[in-house]
Amino acid sequence: MDMEKLVSLCKRRGFLFQSSEIYGGLNGFWDYGPLGVELKRNIKDAWWRDMVTAHDEMSVTPGAPATYEMTGLDCTIIMHPQVWKCSGHYDLFCDMMVDCKDCKSRFRADHLLAIELQFPNSKETDAPHVLLGGTGEKEEIIERHKKKLKKLVRVHGDYLTLSGFMTYGQLNEDGRKKFICPECGQQGNMTEPREFNLMFKTIVGAMGTENDAAFLRPETAQGIFVNFKNVVDSTRVRIPFGIAQVGKSFRNEITPRNFTFRSREFEQMEIEFFCHPDSSRDWYEYWRDRRMRWYTELGLSGDRLILREHAEDELSHYSCGTADIEYAFPFLTEGEFGELEGIAHRGDFDLRSHMEGKLVKNEEGCLVLETGPDGKPKYKGSGRDLTYRDDQAKERFTPHVIEPSAGADRATLAFLCEAYTEDEQPNDKGQMQTRVVMKLHPRIAPIKAAVFPLVKKDGMPEIAQGIYRDLKKRFNVFYDEKGAVGRRYRRQDEAGTPYCITVDGQTLDDQTVTVRDRDTLEQWRVNVADVVEEIAGRVG
Ligand code: GAP
Repeated sequence: MDMEKLVSLCKRRGFLFQSSEIYGGLNGFWDYGPLGVELKRNIKDAWWRDMVTAHDEMSVTPGAPATYEMTGLDCTIIMHPQVWKCSGHYDLFCDMMVDCKDCKSRFRADHLLAIELQFPNSKETDAPHVLLGGTGEKEEIIERHKKKLKKLVRVHGDYLTLSGFMTYGQLNEDGRKKFICPECGQQGNMTEPREFNLMFKTIVGAMGTENDAAFLRPETAQGIFVNFKNVVDSTRVRIPFGIAQVGKSFRNEITPRNFTFRSREFEQMEIEFFCHPDSSRDWYEYWRDRRMRWYTELGLSGDRLILREHAEDELSHYSCGTADIEYAFPFLTEGEFGELEGIAHRGDFDLRSHMEGKLVKNEEGCLVLETGPDGKPKYKGSGRDLTYRDDQAKERFTPHVIEPSAGADRATLAFLCEAYTEDEQPNDKGQMQTRVVMKLHPRIAPIKAAVFPLVKKDGMPEIAQGIYRDLKKRFNVFYDEKGAVGRRYRRQDEAGTPYCITVDGQTLDDQTVTVRDRDTLEQWRVNVADVVEEIAGRVG
């Protein structure tokens, strides 16, 4: 699938627009248009319903180690600054970045790739090794440096060899001096890699001093941890149980890119699942498989979707196990996958951090309180008791946490990529034409059905409007009476509308309409009185 075609369809049909486009846009920020807002809302609603409200806490869900409860929260975006100190984000939520001192371009050190260029037989001593810089495929990087390459080969009058990729962050001082900026082509003029905290800072209140600094949350998870006790005390939930939250998160990404995949403002759908330490591994495996199933049930196909267990050295300092659900987005190179969701076994790290203060792993691999130069805790916790008492087992413990953390925007993008299809179909004149059809699962399709009168006369519009009004009470539906019916079908195919209902001459005789299936193009007749139930039975 060609990504450019999808991006253009998203703009043309109102799925996604660049934020503040009339002022030139703002990098890393995206607006959802009339179709996009429905699609994303349907995805979030499907997640909430499948994970929270439709979950049956009285029977064991297939694959689950036991029955469990689910509940929800909606926390603020700005929280007490101490939250981020104890969670580790204040000190550790950083990427390494580099700047070109000449053209001022900024790059993430781990995204910037270097290809080593050698002139093995060169008599010259000044540039026998050069490091071409860039992001993407080796061929793309070479293409970007073509001019410089030609000049170098001319100067050295020699053959060159290319050796493997490495990232800028892995280069030593000598390597950094040889590196050519992918933007302006200057050599050896990059800054040293330095840390850049991804949290957006803001000021709370009128004084505007550093003491009033606060942060926009980079994840929704912390709101759940700090409310753990409130939820236990205000409801009857017993462990094992999960708390779900959907909401905006903000990260000042150094290089936002690939459409909405890496944005600076995005939405997360997160669950923090609290369980007994002895059963946490079983729960981790349950959630990993349950979440993978959710994507396939909504239409992401097997070969483009993978579940990848992290290797030991990839795990965060607190994690005893993490798996990513990844999708082969079309903007990635062959064989590459992009993360849709991470499922992490976080142990008791989060609740302990908010009780005791910021934790770090010691040499034995145990979590201990981080201390400052004065030997005192670097950041103090809340001091509140966030342990859990199991009255039946007469046991008190700090629950372990399993965290399935998904991105609503990445899921939306994956469903859009998966849905984009082109096929050849005859137009109104019987000529074959390429049809663009968004094969979205009916549950998430922005418009569930469109209603058309075949012509604007003979009472057909009135009957069609009646059907439209009846459907509208239950679903997002669309009425269209303009232009040739074939063109109206095409527009709905591009919007991903699974069913089109047409009132025609026969309707006037026998009170039936045609229903057309977007994917199979099959058409069948249904009584006007049964249309609502017909659509309800099909869109779920
Ligand atoms: N609480 C854990 C956590 O936030 P994460 O892997 O950093 O983990 C979880 O983020 C999910 O949020 C990712 O799998 C991705 O879907 C989404 N996400 C993270 N950063 C994003 C960004 N810059 N733009 C869009 N989605 C993002």
